[in-house]
Amino acid sequence: MLSLPPLALYVHIPWCVRKCPYCDFNSHRAPEALPQREYVAALLADLEQDLPLVWGRTVTSVFFGGGTPSLFSGEAIGEFLQGAAARLRFRPDLEVTLETNPGTVEHDRFDAYARAGVNRLSFGIQSFDDGCLARLGRIHDAAQAERAVKLAQDAGFSNINLDLMYALPGQTTAMALADLERAIALDPAHLSHYQLTLEPGTPFARQPPAGIPEGDDAWDMQEACQTRLAEAGYAQYEVSAYAREGRQCAHNLNYWRFGDYLGIGAGAHGKITLPADGTILRRWKLKHPKTYMDAAAGDARIGGDEHLAAERRPFDYMLNALRLREGFPLADFEARTGLARATIAPKLADLSERGLLDVAEEWVRPSELGWRFLNDVMAAFLP
Ligand SMILES: C[S@@+](CC[C@H](N)C(=O)[O-])C[C@H]1O[C@@H](n2cnc3c(N)ncnc32)[C@H](O)[C@@H]1O
Ligand code: SF4
Repeated sequence: MLSLPPLALYVHIPWCVRKCPYCDFNSHRAPEALPQREYVAALLADLEQDLPLVWGRTVTSVFFGGGTPSLFSGEAIGEFLQGAAARLRFRPDLEVTLETNPGTVEHDRFDAYARAGVNRLSFGIQSFDDGCLARLGRIHDAAQAERAVKLAQDAGFSNINLDLMYALPGQTTAMALADLERAIALDPAHLSHYQLTLEPGTPFARQPPAGIPEGDDAWDMQEACQTRLAEAGYAQYEVSAYAREGRQCAHNLNYWRFGDYLGIGAGAHGKITLPADGTILRRWKLKHPKTYMDAAAGDARIGGDEHLAAERRPFDYMLNALRLREGFPLADFEARTGLARATIAPKLADLSERGLLDVAEEWVRPSELGWRFLNDVMAAFLP
């Protein structure tokens, strides 16, 4: 029953100018001279060896994530994309996103990214309040962030996402709404609105800054922001994602629909369906940039391989699909997990009875109540 879903390509760039105290992404302080050529060569060697996992399939999106991919030149990004296009079949309307820190870009960069084939930019803005930005340890202020977005628009980019965080130390709902006004004024196609989380092992988790809105306060802030975004024409389609009509992120939608993706680069994770073997393979790469580059030409680059056990698949599926407001078709659950809907029917019935899920003949989606307690709904599918 397992069948092939769409395939995406994730490329990790593991360096930042400096590490933000709230962030647990695989990112390392960039050395004076960034080894861009060596890293691109390592990425292509890594990709080359993963190819047998995806023979004959078409890639629907590419996402350069980080870290800070905008530390790389357009030429380096272009070299990777050309190398990848020679090895993989790209869909003609391929979405190619590059994550950008507004503190790292100057004018010519955006033209070079466009020439390289990038057609979507995602800016890490976080806030337009200089006090908040300073408390978050960001390397840019609000004016720089606005300037960077306008430079990208001048270079012809129209498919732009802005990342904002809310529930920041000392932030009120009025301040969060003021951030949204500045974001909306830039007219992006997409907005990601993340609640600040204290990730274990980060300086913020060790010593939480004072005044972080929690519980009902954070929820109220989220609801006020969601209402404002809806008024401005940005519909929430996922827990943290808002888009203008037709501007949802194809790459992230593929994750949430439990699609497949190759993960290339230091610490990158991939998920590949292998219907002939009846398995779903999760593969991740060595985390440290130097160790990864040294190992990229062989099997040693692989940090681990795991075949996703049948018992675990419902939970992994729900962890993604229930994040979508639209929920999921039961036929997709069957095709992408290889399990019959009967395996989750008792849980669906229970959650529907408790008012947490709306379950129709062919479709499942979180109810208003379920949306509020999403983590509990997901946890119900743990083996
Ligand atoms: C890889 S970063 C984006 C590009 C670039 N590294 C930057 O920060 O400008 C991805 C996004 O995740 C979000 N993020 C990171 N750590 C977070 C946390 N602890 N809580 C909530 N959102 C977080 C931020 O909005 C950030 O822009
Ligand atoms: S710039 Fe982005 S990836 Fe880098 S440390 Fe800050 S939030 Fe994390």
